[in-house]
Amino acid sequence: MSKKRILTGDRPTSKLHIGHYAGSLQNRVKLQQEYETFIIIADVQALTTHFEHPEDLEKNVLEVTLDNLAVGIDPEISTFFVQSRIPQIAELTVFYSMFTMVNVLRHNPTIKSEAAQYGYEDLTYGFLGYPVSQAADITFCNADLVPVGEDQLPHIELARKIVRKFNSLYKPVLKEPEAMLSDVPRLVGLDGNAKMSKSLNNAIFLSDPAEEVQAKIMTAVTDPGRITLKDKGNPEICTVYQYHEAFNKPEAGNIANLCRSAGIGCVSCKKCLAASLNQLLSPIREKRAYYEDRPETVKEILFTGTEKAKQVAEGTLQEVREAMSIKYYDK
Ligand code: TRP
Repeated sequence: MSKKRILTGDRPTSKLHIGHYAGSLQNRVKLQQEYETFIIIADVQALTTHFEHPEDLEKNVLEVTLDNLAVGIDPEISTFFVQSRIPQIAELTVFYSMFTMVNVLRHNPTIKSEAAQYGYEDLTYGFLGYPVSQAADITFCNADLVPVGEDQLPHIELARKIVRKFNSLYKPVLKEPEAMLSDVPRLVGLDGNAKMSKSLNNAIFLSDPAEEVQAKIMTAVTDPGRITLKDKGNPEICTVYQYHEAFNKPEAGNIANLCRSAGIGCVSCKKCLAASLNQLLSPIREKRAYYEDRPETVKEILFTGTEKAKQVAEGTLQEVREAMSIKYYDK
């Protein structure tokens, strides 16, 4: 019996941060043995917000691939590929866009919050429609499972709707994907903002050096009601405590008790977090350095994976065109 498939990935707008790790990367690594895994480097989707600087893509495609390799995605068993090199994804996007309503896209909560985050007054066609393109990313390989952070759930829901509509309009050739959330599907930013994000300048990157991780944690907001060491703290509203929960689980319960009884100060609590986060990140940094020294190897991984993805995509597109009765003028 063939393995079920996973498709997931990232927009190469910058290096990846610990929010990506907690939300999706960790699950990818865990599941790659059990599932045939495809990792999309979504460079076309990056253009939805970064269209003014396409010249940055090449470097960021490499960075995001390095981050995935660094956390333990094994290129021997998982397939990395570059979205812009798969024209079938663009073709599928166009077909899906014919029967996807603009209002559904307008009401997509992630589109709305991202538009607010970027300060968009009006939306480009590509930005408003990127969830349609993402449905094509997921379905070109008929993925069963999509490990993602919470913010991506509306997009997976749309992909499911598109699949159902396609299958009922034409022929049932597409598979309905399922989202998979991690235990920490959303990580707050250092400034307490609901989302960690490069563009909000509140992120700890997987590739940050140990001293920088420590320095950034020292700036993280804590319970604002806790002014002196003697004040009892509220871990529930503390950013640092949420990071303990995500990255220092064994000690988190104890830390919460100490905070509530004023038994530990914020500085010690932050130092303790920095130590355990750096322990987690240390082997990740090492693996990244290994691949950074071997750029040709990384490029070869992308080449090989992209070739494989292209073949899978063409197989699906033949079925899609056949289902839609647009197989004419095809030699
Ligand atoms: N939108 C995702 C993000 O911002 C990246 C992405 C693009 C993706 N295509 C995908 C995720 C397909 C899962 C499946 O993180």
